[in-house]
Amino acid sequence: MKIVVIGGTGLIGSRLIEKLTEQGHEAVAAAPSTGVNTLTGEGLAEALTGAQVVVDVSNSPSWERDAVWNFFTTSTANILAAEKEAGVGHHVALSIVGSERLPKNDYFRAKIAQEEIIERSGVPYSLVHATQFFEFVKGIADEATRDGEVHIAPVRFQPIAGAEVSENVAKVAVGEPLNGRLEIAGPEQRQMDEFIREALQALGDSRTVVADVHARYFGSELEERTLVPGDGAVLGRIGYLEWLKNDQGK
Ligand SMILES: NC(=O)c1ccc[n+]([C@@H]2O[C@H](COP(=O)([O-])OP(=O)(O)OC[C@H]3O[C@@H](n4cnc5c(N)ncnc54)[C@H](OP(=O)(O)O)[C@@H]3O)[C@@H](O)[C@H]2O)c1
Repeated sequence: MKIVVIGGTGLIGSRLIEKLTEQGHEAVAAAPSTGVNTLTGEGLAEALTGAQVVVDVSNSPSWERDAVWNFFTTSTANILAAEKEAGVGHHVALSIVGSERLPKNDYFRAKIAQEEIIERSGVPYSLVHATQFFEFVKGIADEATRDGEVHIAPVRFQPIAGAEVSENVAKVAVGEPLNGRLEIAGPEQRQMDEFIREALQALGDSRTVVADVHARYFGSELEERTLVPGDGAVLGRIGYLEWLKNDQGK
């Protein structure tokens, strides 16, 4: 099958291209660095010619409110219009577990809009909702740092290795469209402040982690289960410490 991966040069996309290629598919990375810009439409029609499946794992270079909104709404509309022209039969997109629970958050709001455009498009689709990637854990701590202390809400947290996200997205891409969503998460659910404290220790980072019920996650307060999946989620096998030891940077 020809499978076009929008964002195929990114963290999830590059591994996805590897996995699909290993399985014998013609996996094509579409990104500005390969001459495809989904915001302007440049190169999109050419890239999609002959494709059966399009997987969108792109990300907005800016998370500023208007920029991220414009990225996910404009790109998604452009991709779906090009898919209709090319006769693509399956659109797969990667979103975030709990996106619908944080509609006031600038980034999540844009992801919700992305999903609504896909659901309304008429193109058969699958939405994969992943929890936070292990690769993103230090970024969460950095964003939550105030005067040298990391303020994290004591809520449930179940991050997953990026490689396992790519693996699951690859499975969905070659399957029948779900016309719905699949949730994926890491093997272990923990309290977020405890997880981040242990992760920073393992990374040799001496910052103190403070459990703070009002700590904001990229601008938004969290409830107990905002970031974790419901029943029926597909769970990964790799724990954070094992990932840190074996897989980081691969
Ligand atoms: N971080 C998390 O914990 C998390 C959790 C759940 C879901 N997600 C979702 O996972 C997805 C992928 O994230 P990631 O971390 O793998 O992203 P990433 O590493 O930042 O990669 C972003 C990709 O998007 C491409 N891109 C940027 N602007 C583009 C444009 N105008 N047209 C086409 N492609 C463009 C980039 O291409 P270049 O290389 O050419 O710049 C790159 O391939 C995102 O949609 C995110 O919402 C993330």
